[in-house]
Amino acid sequence: MTAPAAPVQGTTHAGLQAWVDEVAAMTTPDEVVWVTGSDEEWTRVTDKLVAAGTFIKLDEAKKPNSFYAASDPSDVARVEDRTYICSVDEKDSGPTNNWMDPNEMKDLMRGLYAGCMTGRTMYVIPFVMGHIESEHPMFGVEITDSEYVVASMRVMARCGTPVLERIEELGEDAKYVPALHSLGAPLEDGQQDVKWPCNPEKYIVQFPEERMIWSYGSGYGGNALLGKKCYSLRIASVMARDEGWMAEHMLILKLTSPEQQVYYIAAGFPSACGKTNLAMLKPTIPGWKVETLGDDIAWMRFGKDGRLYAVNPEFGFFGVAPGTNEHTNPNAMATINKGNSVFTNVALTDDGDIWWEGLENTPAHATSWKGEDWTPEKGAAGELSSHANSRYCTPIKQCDILAPEYDDPQGVPISAIFFGGRRKTTVPLVTESRDWTHGTFMGATLSSETTAAATGEVGVVRRDPMAMLPFIGYDAGDYFQHWIDIGKSADASKLPKIFYVNWFRRDEEGNFVWPGFGENARVLKWAIERIEGKAAAVETAIGHVPTPESIDTDGLDMDPAELAKALTVDNEEWKAEIPQIEEWFAKFGDNLPTALQVELDGLKARLGV
Ligand code: GTP
Ligand code: MN
Ligand code: MN
Repeated sequence: MTAPAAPVQGTTHAGLQAWVDEVAAMTTPDEVVWVTGSDEEWTRVTDKLVAAGTFIKLDEAKKPNSFYAASDPSDVARVEDRTYICSVDEKDSGPTNNWMDPNEMKDLMRGLYAGCMTGRTMYVIPFVMGHIESEHPMFGVEITDSEYVVASMRVMARCGTPVLERIEELGEDAKYVPALHSLGAPLEDGQQDVKWPCNPEKYIVQFPEERMIWSYGSGYGGNALLGKKCYSLRIASVMARDEGWMAEHMLILKLTSPEQQVYYIAAGFPSACGKTNLAMLKPTIPGWKVETLGDDIAWMRFGKDGRLYAVNPEFGFFGVAPGTNEHTNPNAMATINKGNSVFTNVALTDDGDIWWEGLENTPAHATSWKGEDWTPEKGAAGELSSHANSRYCTPIKQCDILAPEYDDPQGVPISAIFFGGRRKTTVPLVTESRDWTHGTFMGATLSSETTAAATGEVGVVRRDPMAMLPFIGYDAGDYFQHWIDIGKSADASKLPKIFYVNWFRRDEEGNFVWPGFGENARVLKWAIERIEGKAAAVETAIGHVPTPESIDTDGLDMDPAELAKALTVDNEEWKAEIPQIEEWFAKFGDNLPTALQVELDGLKARLGV
């Protein structure tokens, strides 16, 4: 988007101006700056971050126009225990969210916000999630006192003057989500700033009825870039329930077969479980091509033809860095190597580049994300150079395999939905659901071992329904019902087929059974062939699983016994899963959709329990 160079100060939109004035009066910043999106502004903001020590500019030849940042060690991931859904009625937030009375929360947070931007600049960022030309443009305005957030938002969302002008054109009818963010780190006169200002007290709060977000105390990722998880998932999921569409934690990819048939696939895996990898997959099977539309969020609405169409509301990738390399994700590597990116909590090399665990060309020396000396010897002793949730933030338009349809406000018709998680045991490589309701059951009972993407213990199996546990903006039981209703409202033959995958099964030695990454194309191929009625499957208690022969193993360096292991459905393991599912469903009491109880009863009957 092009934007005028001169900053626009203020707006003709009276409602928006009043809110900005009200926030400025409460938070008392030194100045208010409206974000335009211009190149000159990017330079000004990144220069200021470099001067403050928050950003280090990377070597121009290696990573053009790119920056390194290391956060405060206490501010490295989403804080789920500090995240609230403040619905008017407690029951509307459901059993999986933190809740506080909205008025009580506002009183508490107004106390925190009072004077919280003293000594800082308050930025007003008009943004739109999805396309500005969309039939329903999804506007937001983020107020923040963090230059890091301004720089990152410009990568992750369509921001600036063109958005503000569109809001002004629509006048007082324009709906936008007000999203207030503060680091909670005011500066007294003459007080020296720190590199990563934040506050030990954090609140990430959604007010679903008001479609409003208040965030305080954190400067990182989903806590601070409010267009992402807070708006596009928590608030949007509430809008979607009310308006009959879906806001999901899913990648969107385009798959083209050797016969030039095109399929669009959406996939929901919990954080750090492989969405960004699958979205940019480089297939190992000849003739199959993957192009990317999105790696984290899908908004899906029914088209006039009755099919479900998905758009990616974002404008950039905010990808997990460790493990990304030329083998696991060559397309992500090519994207970040073009520059214009921000790298947070990775290691800084002595020649002005970045490095992380799993990347090629291990440096002999680097500065770790904690600012300490790091060497391969320290690495061998278990010291990590990069935080496990370190991220690259890079423009989606730089991705060589971005599908042209990305720019279509109508989105793309989805043929298959994949759910998946990280499970060492029990869950086979791929299972096809019998129908939409069964697929909803698979999603509702999705389980995964926890990762570093959120604070808390890592490696514990928890239920993460539709990979949305931290992101459902209302009662998860109602959310399940919404999925069932979406299925009922549609022509079943036009609905996407739902599959459940697990790339993470381990053998007795603890090694991954399935090679994963580019080889996952073989699973996509099987799914498409199932849709086309071409591939074989065995019916098991949990759904349809490939026969070993039905997976294309041409050129796959894998022991057939290992493949059989990856595909195994062990009824004893699944029997052990039942009490966990029952305990999970019990949380919802009477609010559990009957259709899901019927699915569970059917599974128990098939397992003979
Ligand atoms: P968020 O961006 O946090 O929502 O997560 P994501 O789902 O995009 O996760 P991402 O793709 O960044 O996954 C990162 C982790 O999954 C890394 O540790 C990868 O090595 C691992 N991973 C991804 N695909 C595979 C796979 O096919 N096999 C195995 N074994 N690991 C994988
Ligand atoms: Mn995510
Ligand atoms: Mn990702």
